[in-house]
Amino acid sequence: MAKQWDALWINATIATGEKQDSIMTNACLATKGSKIAWVGAMQALSAKPNELADTVYDVKHRCITPGLIDCHTHLIFAGNRANEFEMRLKGATYEDIARQGGGIQSTVAATRTASQEELYYLSKKRVLALMQSGVTTLEIKSGYGLDLETEEKILYVAKKLEETLPITISKTFLGAHTLPLEYRGRGDAYIDHICQDMIPSIAEKKLAEAVDVFCEKIAFNLAQTERVFATAKQHDLQVKCHAEQLSDSGSAALAAKYHALSVDHLEHLSLQGIEAIAKSGTVAVLLPGAFYFLREKKLPPIQLLREHGVPIALASDCNPGTSPIMSLLLIMNMACTLFRLTPQEVLLGVTQYAAKSLGLEQTIGTLSANKQADFIVWDVSTPVELMYYMGVKPLHQFVKLGRTIDLANL
Ligand code: NIG
Ligand code: FE
Repeated sequence: MAKQWDALWINATIATGEKQDSIMTNACLATKGSKIAWVGAMQALSAKPNELADTVYDVKHRCITPGLIDCHTHLIFAGNRANEFEMRLKGATYEDIARQGGGIQSTVAATRTASQEELYYLSKKRVLALMQSGVTTLEIKSGYGLDLETEEKILYVAKKLEETLPITISKTFLGAHTLPLEYRGRGDAYIDHICQDMIPSIAEKKLAEAVDVFCEKIAFNLAQTERVFATAKQHDLQVKCHAEQLSDSGSAALAAKYHALSVDHLEHLSLQGIEAIAKSGTVAVLLPGAFYFLREKKLPPIQLLREHGVPIALASDCNPGTSPIMSLLLIMNMACTLFRLTPQEVLLGVTQYAAKSLGLEQTIGTLSANKQADFIVWDVSTPVELMYYMGVKPLHQFVKLGRTIDLANL
């Protein structure tokens, strides 16, 4: 007779990602096809494990969490910016370098000349590194093309990564990352091009689910940002924003007006901005890797975000300029040590709330019946150890859509 479940994980400590204190010891998790069928206590099993499921994994009190979600990356790029890392160590700021034509522009030059195959090869290595740190869903932004052809090339590479690797990829169009050199002094004309040509083309080809804007003095102003958001909405695309990273421009409140899924960075976020995103249900995505790498001093207003009940997510921001980091576990450690988030807040920030920041909270981010069976078995006994250790690889088993994936074979 066919058994009730396909697979059953027994003797586990399970952090379901539902609430900060939802941890079960002596628990088990069952899957049927690509979904979770049941999560509960060992004693509640109605029969012996091998009578209930075709495959039984005794995880010997290891910890199971939802597959981690890295909800903000720019990982498709060519070249690197190690030279700028050195310049900043000698005192140059991120803005100085950008104004001198380095920064994002230098990655744009390298990415424009790279072939799709080359970009795929470079990016696959980065995705695999993130998967080694437990990431089963990833967001990738374009933004190193700044012309339609290269922006679409990047989004095609993102699509190909999803088709060829066991990972979910959410794609975001970030044409408004910075002003391309050929539009110098003509910011509004570039925004016209984004709104009239780029967004319609990308929407029609279904190459992205969301549109992001870098609203900042060295990028785009509030009025330009609003035009991009309004056009995104007209094309049924979600809105995201690189907001208040280096200064407070009021972009978080503007994004809230467009029901943004998330506003990201937020070191300079004001009380007004917090009130606006609290009302719109927008997720605050904090990026401790960029904070660390740029040696920022101003912390995001974490206590006020908490007091206003704003869901906080954490992400790697993986990019060549401000966060060349390909481990979400390292980011989780930084969120604790640099931002003083609790380990419980951090776990929710890379599971449930990261899912919400991508509009995917109905299917992933928590472990309960009928959710997608994306989860990690870790070689640790409590989730706090995931943030406590640095430089170890605690991943024991990677399960995507109910299938165990051997990462060494990808
Ligand atoms: O998220 N702030 C803007 N964009 C990226 C950095 C991009 C770059 O420097 O290449 C960020 O930090
Ligand atoms: Fe970013």
